Amino acid sequence: MCGIVGYTGPRQACGVLLGGLTRLEYRGYDSAGVAVVSDGEMALVRRVGKLENLKAAVAGDPVVGTAGIGHTRWATHGAPTEDNAHPHRDCSGRLAIVHNGIIENFAELRTELAAAGHAIRSETDTEVVAHLIEALYEGDLVAAVQKATARLHGSYAIAAVHLDHPDLLVAARKDSPLIIGLGDGENIVASDIPAVLEHTRRVAVLHDGQVAVVTPERVTVHDASGAEVEPEVMVVEWDLDAAEKGGYEDFMLKEIFEQPKALRETLRGRVGEDGRIQMSELQMSDEELAAIERVFIVACGTSYHAGLVAKLLIEQWARVPVEVDVSSEFRYRDPIVDRNTLVVAITQSGETADTLAGVREARERGARVFAVTNVVGSRVTREADGVIYTHAGPEIGVAATKTFTAQIAALSVLALRLAQARATLEPEQVASLWAELATVPDVVEAILADAQDIEACAREYTQAVSSLFLGRGMGVPVAMEGALKLKEISYIHAEAYPAGEMKHGPIALITPDVPVVVVATQGHTYEKVVSNIQEVRARGARVIAVATYGDEAIRSYAEHVLWIPQVSEALSAIPAAVPLQLLAYHIAKLRGCNVDQPRNLAKSVTVE
Ligand code: G6P
Repeated sequence: MCGIVGYTGPRQACGVLLGGLTRLEYRGYDSAGVAVVSDGEMALVRRVGKLENLKAAVAGDPVVGTAGIGHTRWATHGAPTEDNAHPHRDCSGRLAIVHNGIIENFAELRTELAAAGHAIRSETDTEVVAHLIEALYEGDLVAAVQKATARLHGSYAIAAVHLDHPDLLVAARKDSPLIIGLGDGENIVASDIPAVLEHTRRVAVLHDGQVAVVTPERVTVHDASGAEVEPEVMVVEWDLDAAEKGGYEDFMLKEIFEQPKALRETLRGRVGEDGRIQMSELQMSDEELAAIERVFIVACGTSYHAGLVAKLLIEQWARVPVEVDVSSEFRYRDPIVDRNTLVVAITQSGETADTLAGVREARERGARVFAVTNVVGSRVTREADGVIYTHAGPEIGVAATKTFTAQIAALSVLALRLAQARATLEPEQVASLWAELATVPDVVEAILADAQDIEACAREYTQAVSSLFLGRGMGVPVAMEGALKLKEISYIHAEAYPAGEMKHGPIALITPDVPVVVVATQGHTYEKVVSNIQEVRARGARVIAVATYGDEAIRSYAEHVLWIPQVSEALSAIPAAVPLQLLAYHIAKLRGCNVDQPRNLAKSVTVE
């Protein structure tokens, strides 16, 4: 987690750094700081809390200088205090660094450096790196960073500045993202693209083990041996507008409303003129796809829920067994994965540490691994055998929304592609499912256009302490995602269960104060779901149902109905998820929560 920015160029660095940090605040927001090379001094300002506090401090006492580094923190080592906030300096105060990641051998290094006389002031692993670079510094900052990183275990993205080299930034990475925005007479190092977009669209992606030497005029990239290598440069196609709120109150709301577009983009070009489903990224023939004996899906958080939807689709359409694991379990549990297994790693950020470890684990066991991700150039794209991109555009709100539905869209195409290759569906069935899938963006648009009542419904549940989400079949992962959305942004406890399992425990929780959200869309278990609604109602529960337009009977079972258009059961996950995103959003807003930056969470979990 954590966001880092570095600037070198003709302009005042502090403004650029604060602008960049504003766009990276989603990565962490418990404290922030900047260090600027300022007329022979290292000016350092750090503040606890949101970036606003740092901005206010700088506004009152401007920091002058044209090269510097900045950081927004998500604490791993030590509480969010000013002393623990980045940047960190060495003993001399001439070197400052920012870091994202975890240095696993920091305790050992700390002992060694303290014994050598270094005065370490904070509890962080980062400060140890500053002292390590100081210990190895003999006038060449690049060499010192290179030697220091060779001693680090764990993950890092680092940017360093030194008073001896006033316009130089040195950046290095391993297992944490880092890019360099290439400007005209200026360059900007950052954890993620939105931080540089205001200034440039040309971006160099730093790879693991590489060190970048950045001055206003030049960027050179070196590999671990010190040899200069050609940087991988790409031109970003989306603009800053896409990474900003565009008139919405929050990123989350904007991203919920961007779903029709995200879905259209993700589904674009997926059927050829011959009517066949296209997924050339797989680079696998029909024969190879038919030879797959098992699919394993690994993912975390919301992406895991997309995986659960995909399991139902792949098993139903392609008749191949699918297992879904949370990545942190998969990587440690000796899974049965071999060369006949297709592993699908779902990660919107492409940087989730556990999912990346899962990818490595699966490849070591001989499986072919495909990533489903939203971020071009992210780490998973280099680790997997192939990449299926969702084209949702940047997602800034910590709680995933548009990337979730885009993942389901991409995975639905994958399921159809597998079914086509394995001939488990007739060509006409594939064609008709594709035709319906292609209408899902319009369905979502219709839901969003008719969602005004959800806020009124939300108003009645703002005081809830606990809630239950129920569904069957496709409704189970939808209920799980609905519960996750509610708990992560409103802090109301929310538990999801398969409705049929409710009698085995959760029914004991039912009181009039525990709202029950039920996914009751049309499908072959609809009647069963209605019975479950009756059971909770008989125990005093207030029910919010997600149901299909025209289902007038549901009104008599539920206090509130969140309506969606009729779609076939297999394709109901995306439409049914949307009202639950809005329900969570409105409840959280009415409770005064910061929906874009919920407490304790981070957008991309780059540490284990
Ligand atoms: C964090 C985010 C979630 C996300 C999960 C997995 O917990 O807050 O929104 O679903 O990480 O992230 P990934 O980038 O791997 O999909």
